Amino acid sequence: MSFHIKTLQLHDFRCHQNKRLSFGAGANIVVGKNASGKTSVVEAIYCLALGKSFKAASSAEMIRKGAEYAAARAEIANRDREDVLFVSIGATGKKIVLNNKPVSRLSEYLGYFKAVVFSPEDYRLIKGTPLDRRNFLDVNISQMAPEYLAALISYRKVLKQRNEVLKAMAASSSRGDEDLLDILSAQLAKEGRIIINGRKNFFAGINPLFTERVKQISEGKERGEMYYMVNTEGDRLEAAYSRKRNLELAAQTTLFGPHRDDFEMRLNGEVAAAFASQGQQKTLCLAAKLALTDLLDVGGSPLVVILDDVFSELDSARQNQILGAIDHGHQVFITATSVDGLAEGLLKRGTIINIEEEE
Ligand SMILES: Nc1ncnc2c1ncn2[C@@H]1O[C@H](COP(=O)(O)OP(=O)(O)OP(=O)(O)O)[C@@H](O)[C@H]1O
Ligand SMILES: [Mg+2]
Repeated sequence: MSFHIKTLQLHDFRCHQNKRLSFGAGANIVVGKNASGKTSVVEAIYCLALGKSFKAASSAEMIRKGAEYAAARAEIANRDREDVLFVSIGATGKKIVLNNKPVSRLSEYLGYFKAVVFSPEDYRLIKGTPLDRRNFLDVNISQMAPEYLAALISYRKVLKQRNEVLKAMAASSSRGDEDLLDILSAQLAKEGRIIINGRKNFFAGINPLFTERVKQISEGKERGEMYYMVNTEGDRLEAAYSRKRNLELAAQTTLFGPHRDDFEMRLNGEVAAAFASQGQQKTLCLAAKLALTDLLDVGGSPLVVILDDVFSELDSARQNQILGAIDHGHQVFITATSVDGLAEGLLKRGTIINIEEEE
């Protein structure tokens, strides 16, 4: 195993004041009763990979109540060397330090290692809001293509400025800011095209994998696809900004661009959110995450797989199906309230970590 997290030390991270855990290179099963801090452990691992949580709306949530900052430190076996990775979260921001070198830009750091999480919240890929789905796209495309994150950060900054200008122009009914609006429109379109291209590439990559996974899980019975609903094509953005200016002035906000994109899953040609049964929706969400795992696994940097609380209700055939799909030498973290009901093969191969017994 050329890459794996060997130890994790948490300091004021959620409920953990001071905690040190050791992991094996393959499957790790983190066991503990409800509220013992299992999700917090895998959240810290995710945070080391991506600089953010997979569940917190704001990073400050991860700071233990009453403390000033949260920190996680990992010792990592990386081929023939050992890396030390550190992340701290304070009220004013985050800091990542790799081998004593502070990371200045997240877009330069991303991809050191990648992470994918399977969680009970995955149903949001279908039932959640367009924002949930855009976050899914943004996080995962950023892991694969750092230039996507750079474009996204710029896009958000310009979007905010542009919305302020639209608001100001509407309020004062002055045309004085027309030039500024033109400049911002051009910048927004430029970054927007990079984002839309990134999303198109993502769907081109994941779609065949997704279809294959749906087929496999449903034993050939179902056909799944992901459909990208682009708000405005990249090469039409500038025209939309100039032709529909009055519409945007009336709305006092930017109506066109990838900040309004969405995607949907389809099952046998029908929109899954409306037509698929609960069980079928579960299949689709699981297939989406498996396909994502397949996609993220391409390319040089290592991938860590997190299964937070997803095993408890599955039968051992399903569990083995998932494990078989992800077991390509990745380090895997599985959380569960008990080892009861976990597939025997998993228990035999895995390292069991009882969170309540660890220091
Ligand atoms: N910032 C924080 N400061 C202190 N405690 C927190 C903070 N955020 C969450 N907690 C608490 O930490 C505890 C552990 O939460 P966590 O979600 O990690 O538990 P879990 O073991 O995954 O539980 P479950 O089995 O129910 O999923 C919870 O009681 C939660 O309320
Ligand atoms: Mg949990």
